[in-house]
Amino acid sequence: MKGVILAGGLGSRLYPLTKATNKHLLPVGCEPMLFHPIRQLVSAGIEDILVVTSTQHMGDVVRCLGSGADFDCKLSYKVQEEAGGIAHALALAEDFAFGSKICVILGDNIFEFSIKPYADNFDKQKSGAHVLLKEVGDPERYGVAALDEYQVIDIEEKPVNPKSSFAVVGLYFYDEHVFDIIRSTDASERGEMEITAVNNIYIRKKQLGFSICQGRWTDAGTFDSLFEANQLLMASQNRIMT
Ligand code: G1P
Repeated sequence: MKGVILAGGLGSRLYPLTKATNKHLLPVGCEPMLFHPIRQLVSAGIEDILVVTSTQHMGDVVRCLGSGADFDCKLSYKVQEEAGGIAHALALAEDFAFGSKICVILGDNIFEFSIKPYADNFDKQKSGAHVLLKEVGDPERYGVAALDEYQVIDIEEKPVNPKSSFAVVGLYFYDEHVFDIIRSTDASERGEMEITAVNNIYIRKKQLGFSICQGRWTDAGTFDSLFEANQLLMASQNRIMT
């Protein structure tokens, strides 16, 4: 399995911290934010990793991460020329994936626990996709999963009236069909290609598995969540807890 880290976007919710730099280069604990998803993928045995970021910050991102030698992995880079949404950024990974399954992490997602068990399980799965859910107090900020007794039946992006308190975490496992699926989706009302639209197609195909994640998780895209991410990683000195 290969890894994809999505680190584009404008970081507007963190302005003015993001006035001169990319959100994913801001410090979390004692390291730049992007070190965390790289360490997570490497700890899961995924060593061939693509980083997608904007034209504006690509130079700084490459200066910060280099070839991957410091992390015992191989890093490749791809430019997202416009902020067209998460699925738009992921579409740029098609040549890199070259028919492999992929593990996708949003560059601002911070996990207290190692993602390795989830990657190992998906490795055993022949096809389809897998998402992680986490119960949160403010589901309206996320993609929110509606569940029946056994499965996810729908995901709504940033709903005003969430159907549950289960947020869809920014860690996704996909088979090689994900790129055809992205091509079949339209942009949302806010003009973005949503990862939620992609996941809903896997649901309709009855091919979306899920796990409820154990342990703390947060994104780091707002001032409050960045503070939480700092607390979370300071507690472990940025080590991945296995
Ligand atoms: C994105 C996804 C959302 C997901 C969240 C996790 O939201 O669109 O479905 O729950 O990441 O961090 P964004 O952070 O881009 O608002």
